[in-house]
Amino acid sequence: RLEVTETFAGIALPGHLHTKESLQFATTFPFRDTDVVIVTYPKSGTTWMQEILTLLYSRGDALPAKTIPNWERAPWLEQIHFRGALRDTAAHRLITSHLPARVLAPLLQRSKAKVIYVARNPKDVVVSFYYFHRLAKFLPDPVSFDAFLQQFLEGTVHYGSWFDHVKGWLGQRQLLDIFYVTYEELHQDLRGTAQRLSTFLGCPLGPETLEALEQHCSFAAMRDNAMANYTLIPREIMDHSQGRFMRKGVVGDWRDHFSPLQNALFNRVYQEEMRDVDLSVHWSM
Ligand code: PPS
Repeated sequence: RLEVTETFAGIALPGHLHTKESLQFATTFPFRDTDVVIVTYPKSGTTWMQEILTLLYSRGDALPAKTIPNWERAPWLEQIHFRGALRDTAAHRLITSHLPARVLAPLLQRSKAKVIYVARNPKDVVVSFYYFHRLAKFLPDPVSFDAFLQQFLEGTVHYGSWFDHVKGWLGQRQLLDIFYVTYEELHQDLRGTAQRLSTFLGCPLGPETLEALEQHCSFAAMRDNAMANYTLIPREIMDHSQGRFMRKGVVGDWRDHFSPLQNALFNRVYQEEMRDVDLSVHWSM
């Protein structure tokens, strides 16, 4: 395992992808008014949204999505590798971040950049994240699902607390030009969500683009697209013999993983943490 941890703003991040300099770069980044920033807690639909926006902006032309890796189309702001990709893009830039609101939102507030926040049922997030830890050698060995679930609920996993992340970004409704969407909505109505995104972004979406977007952003198409499924990443970093990045892509997989006891504990913490949160989305918990 490439297990170096970088601690930043009270949260652990994979040191293989983040350094003091890359985080400094991210937290002083001059956003442009034309930037579009995808923000997520890990495993919440980041890659899916990157693909949807690629197709939206290409007006349905699948060529960019099939020839350019997603991390170049929508580079991660805080990771070491992407400064070049961020600097020299022309008209609008797609940028991705997992950073919490308390770090990134003040910086975004200084621009008119548009933010798209994607959230997912945390029970499915923890399952997806657990499997990702087995595959991604830059994350700690998760040991067991039960141990990992405990850490997730305590907020001591890499990238910090899911609850803080979601609450922090939900608190930006009045302060940013922000679009909230859930992984579950993408599942239920990809077309409708793409149409709402097109309105939010001011990017027209004709019927042919919509058709191509729906086709190209399906789980099966993305699973087989080397520019989206992370199979280009060397084995020392992501060991695909331990599972796939595009693992299952379903809603409610937690039901096959949680014991009744784990579910009761999760519900208790969720209710406590989310007590005062006005969530317009309701997951099936
Ligand atoms: S990461 O590492 O934070 O960038 O991961 P992220 O992309 O946010 O989340 C990965 C999960 O999203 C699923 N996925 C999809 N589901 C349905 N349809 C499409 N098109 C799609 N693309 C990605 C992916 O399979 C991971 O979820 P799990 O539950 O592990 O399958």
